[in-house]
Amino acid sequence: MPRFLVTGAGGQLGRAILEHAGDDAVGLTHADVALEDADAVRQAIATHRPEAVLHCGAWTDVDGCERDPEKADAVNGHGTSYVAESCRAIGARLVYVSTDFVFDGAGTAPYPVDAPTAPISAYGRSKLLGEQAVLRDAEPGFWVVRTSWVFGPGGRNFPRAILDRARSGQPLRVVDDQVGSPTFTPDLAVALCDLATLDAEPGVYHASNEGVCSWFDFAVELIGAAKLENVQIDRMPSSELDRPAPRPAYSVLDCSRLTAVRGAPLPHYRDAVRRYLSLEPAQ
Ligand SMILES: NC(=O)c1ccc[n+]([C@@H]2O[C@H](COP(=O)([O-])OP(=O)(O)OC[C@H]3O[C@@H](n4cnc5c(N)ncnc54)[C@H](OP(=O)(O)O)[C@@H]3O)[C@@H](O)[C@H]2O)c1
Repeated sequence: MPRFLVTGAGGQLGRAILEHAGDDAVGLTHADVALEDADAVRQAIATHRPEAVLHCGAWTDVDGCERDPEKADAVNGHGTSYVAESCRAIGARLVYVSTDFVFDGAGTAPYPVDAPTAPISAYGRSKLLGEQAVLRDAEPGFWVVRTSWVFGPGGRNFPRAILDRARSGQPLRVVDDQVGSPTFTPDLAVALCDLATLDAEPGVYHASNEGVCSWFDFAVELIGAAKLENVQIDRMPSSELDRPAPRPAYSVLDCSRLTAVRGAPLPHYRDAVRRYLSLEPAQ
């Protein structure tokens, strides 16, 4: 019987949790179980009978979700309700990884865990649906952990795209009117496993690396830390990207509730960038 069953095990966060937890964790990939298949979800959780499910699986293609909101709700919303029901059925704990996209981004100070939600995208609405399924009965051992700007080794993410482009000598134009906190998967993995084993109050927690930046600032930090020279990098407004789904302009999360439970915040994102570069192959 594993301690942790990890959904989204093929994704960037799922892989980091499996690496951190080692023999304590078993992973479910998309190929193993489709979250929108209620019977498959129930059967997998009942078979493994973990102490806790760390639910990272999600359809994270924000623009894809905007084009197909029903699929977004089916995977991220209803899929999460099947995970929650299955955990209730066997008495397992549940950590559901959610997102800063449940907020509208109009804030100007870090969002506390009880700030009103108002998602502006189909992805955000689908993840909020998942939160409501998890928080339905406020039972002990059920937690929602919202995070932001996730990056880690092996993921298709912002640092990978920036470094690939910079190394190939292409000029960069990066959005400077969206602000948030990058979150490094190995750091988040530790925090999620901690929460799953502590007797913390049920409910919502926020978890991101320390520090606040724009995407432009983040790109400059990456290029500097990677010691890439002669990279042309310019600022651009997000309106020029013309993407189907709107993104929150302000995504900073107040992580003090999780810090109080764990006794320490996640490390600063600048420190995380350096560890990421030491793990990520150049190409
Ligand atoms: N990435 C971010 O910036 C960010 C920010 C805030 C919160 N989050 C949340 O953090 C969690 C982990 O994100 P991540 O960055 O690790 O995402 P990721 O790399 O896209 O991983 C998500 C995993 O879920 C799987 N998946 C997708 N659709 C599925 C389905 N219908 N049934 C079963 N599995 C399915 C994917 O498999 P396939 O690729 O094979 O489909 C993928 O392995 C997610 O819950 C996400 O909402 C992410």
